[in-house]
Parts: sequence; C-alpha cells; structure tokens
Amino acid sequence: MDGRELVTQISYLTASVLFILGLRSLTKPDKARRGMQQAALGMLLAIIGTLVQAEIVRYEWIIGGLIAGSLLGYPLGMWVPMTAMPQRIAFSHMFGALAATLVGVAEFTNALADGEIIETSQMTALGIEVLFGSLTVTGSFIAFGKLAEFIPGRPLTYKGQNLINGALFATTLGLLIFVIFNPDARLAFFLLVGLAAAIGLFLVLPIGGADMPVVISLLNSYAGLAASATGFAIDNTVLIIAGALDGASGFLLSIIMSRAMNRSFGNILFGAFGSKVTAGAKSAAGMTVQEVSVEDAALRLAYARLAVIVPGYGMAVAQAQHQVKEVTDLIERNGGEVRYAIHPVAGRMPGHMNVLLAEANIPYDSLVEMGEINPQFPETDVALIVGANDVVNPAAVNDPDSPIYGMPIIDAYKAKSVIVLKRSMNPGFAGIENELFYMPNTSMLFGDAKASLTRLAAEMKAL
Ligand code: TAP
Repeated sequence: MDGRELVTQISYLTASVLFILGLRSLTKPDKARRGMQQAALGMLLAIIGTLVQAEIVRYEWIIGGLIAGSLLGYPLGMWVPMTAMPQRIAFSHMFGALAATLVGVAEFTNALADGEIIETSQMTALGIEVLFGSLTVTGSFIAFGKLAEFIPGRPLTYKGQNLINGALFATTLGLLIFVIFNPDARLAFFLLVGLAAAIGLFLVLPIGGADMPVVISLLNSYAGLAASATGFAIDNTVLIIAGALDGASGFLLSIIMSRAMNRSFGNILFGAFGSKVTAGAKSAAGMTVQEVSVEDAALRLAYARLAVIVPGYGMAVAQAQHQVKEVTDLIERNGGEVRYAIHPVAGRMPGHMNVLLAEANIPYDSLVEMGEINPQFPETDVALIVGANDVVNPAAVNDPDSPIYGMPIIDAYKAKSVIVLKRSMNPGFAGIENELFYMPNTSMLFGDAKASLTRLAAEMKAL
C-alpha cells in the first residue's frame, strides 16, 4: 500500500466511524447538532480520501463539480425555510440517486467500450445500483412535486393500478436477472434503467401528499442501497458503509413513522390514503363549537398551575414557535408550569416539532413524549393546542370506523380545559373531523396561530 492509498484508507475508516457516531448523536435532540457536525466532518474526510487517489488523472472536472455543488447546496441549506424541509430533502435525494445511476451507467458503458466482460458479481451490483437509483430519481421528483404542490397532492389513482404496478415490477425484476447473466446486453440494461424510472413514477403518484415523509424516508433507504451497490461496483469501501447506514436508517425511520400512524407499509404505499374526505358525525348532527375570546383565553393561561402545549403542523405553517415561547415565559412568570406534548408524527417530518421548538430556545427537558405526558392530562389546567389536529383526535381511540382508529394520540381531551388555536374548522392531514373541537371542555380561538399567540401574549402582559 503506497502513501496515497494509506491516506485514503485512514480517511475512509475515520469517516465511517464519524458517520456511525453522527447517527448515534442524532437520536437525542440535545446532541443532534453535534451529530450533524460529526457526519459533515466524516463526509469531508471521505471526499479528501477520494481526492488523493492515484487513479485521478485530472482535477478540472472535479473542481468544477465541487463549485457547482457548493453553489447549489449553500442556498438549499441556508435559505430554504423549515416548513419546506421535507421537499428539500426529497430534492436532495433525487440528486444522490441520480449520481448513483450515472456512475452505474458510466461503469457499464466504459466496460463495454473497453471490451471487458463484466463479472456476474459486479453486474449484480451495477444492476441493483441502476434499478434502485433510477426509481429513486423519479420517485423523489414526484415526492418533491407533491410537497411543493406543482403536482396534485391527492393520490392519483386509476382502476387496476396495483395490478399494473405489480406487472411492471415483475418485468423489471426479470430484466435485472437477464442483465446479470448477459452483461453485454446494452439494450436490456438501458431498458432496466427506463423501467425502474417508470416504477418510481407509478409507485409515488398514487400516494397522498401528506404520506410523502414516509415515502421520502423509504426512497432515502433505496438511495442508500443504490450507493452501497455503487461501492461494490467501483470497489469503494466508504460508499458501501455509508450506503448501508443510509439504507438501514431510512428503512427503520419509515417503519417508526408508519407505526406512529398505526398504518401498515402496504396501506401507505398502496392504500391511496387521503383520497376520501370523511365527514364527522358531530357536524352532521348540527353540534356547534364554543369560541373563546382572547381575553378569556389569556386569563385561563395566566392562572394555570400546569399548562401543556401541544404543537402540530399548524405551528410550523404559522412559524409560531417564538410566540409559543413568549406565552410560556408569561405563564411561568405567574408561577405556572409549562410542558410540551410531542407526538412522534406531529407536523410533516420526524422531529419537526423538536426542531422548531429548539429554534425558539425551548429547553429539551420541557419536551415530553406522548407516553409520558398522557397520564398528566387529568391534572392539566389548560391544554393549549397550537395547530395540531389529527394527533389530538379522540376518534383514534373511540371510533372504530375512523381511518385513524388505533393511532396513538396525545390525550389532550382529558385536560380540565382545552384551547385550540387554528384558523377554521378544516380538517388536518387525515381529512377527518375532530370531535375534540365539540367537547364541552374545549374552546376554539380561530386565527393564524402566530397572530393568536401574539394577541394572547399582549393580553397576558396587560393582566
Ligand atoms: P394536522 O392533523 O395535519 O393538522 C394541522 C392543523 O393545523 C390543521 O387542522 C390546520 O387547520 C391547522 N393550521 C394550518 N395552518 C395554520 C396556521 N397558520 N395557524 C393555525 N393553525 C393552522 O397536523 P398534526 O396534528 O400535526 O398531525 C400530523 C398529521 O400528519 C398526522 O395525521 C400524521 O399522521 C401525518 N403525517 C406526519 C408525518 C410526520 S413524520 N410528522 C409523516 C406523514 C404523515 P386550519 O386550516 O383550520 O388552520
């Protein structure tokens, strides 16, 4: 092993350790920032280790790529707002998967041009690489489009869709096997790339926009598999390790998210969830909701001994986290205690609420997970719901016909008094009515959450 090779191997080893440490740190909100720094340092080392390799003959294209990547990456990282993070992630996956697919295509065409016979093991890696890579490119693009709303977010379905998708998948799998045993079949190889791209389209189009976070993390795991296969194809250890970590963590995250929604993978991928809007029995029965004035709501909050704030997607839309903190400070100033109830799928991406609340400097130890906060609601004076809906819907507990029946919820309805901040009676992601809004202990304060909290804070200061 010469000097350069040694530098490469040491960088790769250190990078792999840093990736693992980074993932470990990401499991705790207070260490998450450090986790990102560890992973970023690992990536820098992996890049350095690659750049010193003796096989590189010219650096012009590489430098050009680094400049173009930095020019694109900087605004994506710095300027995209937190609420647009899910679509930004889908967009980056698309590029990652595109890179893996292009490397696969380049390896294949170069080998054919040099008259090399690609070995079966290498062809297997190349085939898997372009299959997962190509379907992730188009799948991520559709996910990005649905979340950015230039493609309709509702599930786009037609009759016999699952059957057609199944046939497409079987044909593509057959083609992969054919290509593995016929490594010079150029047409079949490119057909494989094309059909995999079609699978990505047909797989994601029938999935509703709000299920995209699960889809994105699943596609993330496919991009990881593609990267890992690339590592095998070009004999690059850090790519194999990083791809495997990416593949496994993306897959586990998808499972965690679907469990927290009490939905099976099959239901998310093939159930076209969100295509029907279910009307609730309460509104049909003509029941009304009680509204509360800002003055009354401020009084209740100011004199609460224990207040639990339940943030949801609406807090992210309104960007109301700083006003949430202001109201918290005012309750605490009066001697009350404030806790935050965090549902694992509140918002639209894992950890969505944690990130926003951390941005407003809310201490991590005030954030309480669902299982721990639920028994505390009977002693809670006020549960303040800030733009949450499905995650506090009691239908999940007591209506077996509800599409969210069985999903674990935050038991805010058990609090002595509930104040809900939202703009209208519109449903949340699941498209269903929420009986919490009609309960006798619930009052609604309609309006944008940020504006309502600002008015509440002003009123509390004046008390
Ligand atoms: P949702 O049930 O989606 O409800 C959000 C509520 O926020 C809406 O009812 C909306 O009502 C309100 N809202 C929107 N903009 C607002 C604003 N500016 N000010 C005040 N309120 C506003 O949110 P949730 O309770 O957080 O539940 C999340 C849902 O997403 C769950 O069903 C979950 O399964 C799903 N999901 C989550 C994830 C992850 S990983 N988090 C992944 C996939 C799916 P108005 O329009 O009336 O204001």
